[in-house]
Amino acid sequence: MKSVVILISGRGSNLQALLEASLPGRIAAVISNRPQAAGLELARRHGVAAIALDHRGYASREQFDAALAAEIDRHDADLVVLAGFMRILGDDFVRRYSGRLLNIHPSLLPLFPGLDTHARALAAGVKIHGASVHFVTPALDAGPLVIQAAVPVLAADNEETLAARVLAQEHKIYPQAVRWFLEGRLELSAEGRVALRGEGDAGPALIAPALG
Ligand code: GAR
Repeated sequence: MKSVVILISGRGSNLQALLEASLPGRIAAVISNRPQAAGLELARRHGVAAIALDHRGYASREQFDAALAAEIDRHDADLVVLAGFMRILGDDFVRRYSGRLLNIHPSLLPLFPGLDTHARALAAGVKIHGASVHFVTPALDAGPLVIQAAVPVLAADNEETLAARVLAQEHKIYPQAVRWFLEGRLELSAEGRVALRGEGDAGPALIAPALG
């Protein structure tokens, strides 16, 4: 059975979706760079090792990344899942876990990389917004896409209502992507392409709930 380590920084609602998804793998540990992250308590309640690794205790990004990698490797992770992990990881870290490092981002990438995605989507006036799961590569929020979910942007939306609509979809697509990986059906090729086996030609790699 494959082992998963999940990295968080805060609330942990995507973590919760993963913990409750009966995944065909073992969630070996949850690590947070913020000691107060609510997700750590959630992990403990599910009987999963919950580790706080405060980035403020390290003099450089490289030192924090090295400590993080040592902790991940202690749990023999086959897959590392960033679930609301709000720190940029250095190139060495990203390369070390190449092909086994997934992230979820609250926009339809390549639109709106970075922070404040919902406010920026509203300001841009887009009619469709959403979330993306992608393999992590050194370029921020630009790695090969695995699955996306689209939601409508409604005239009455504000940042909170739009975020909530997107988050509900995040909780569907992230467990799906992780499941594919753990089943051995999802791979990043040496050329950097996503290969998904057994889902037909197009695959269900886009979820677009009906409008209304
Ligand atoms: C989620 O919306 C996730 O997509 C986003 O942070 C939130 C974490 O919520 N991630 C990023 O913005 C990564 N750049 P959660 O802690 O409740 O899962």
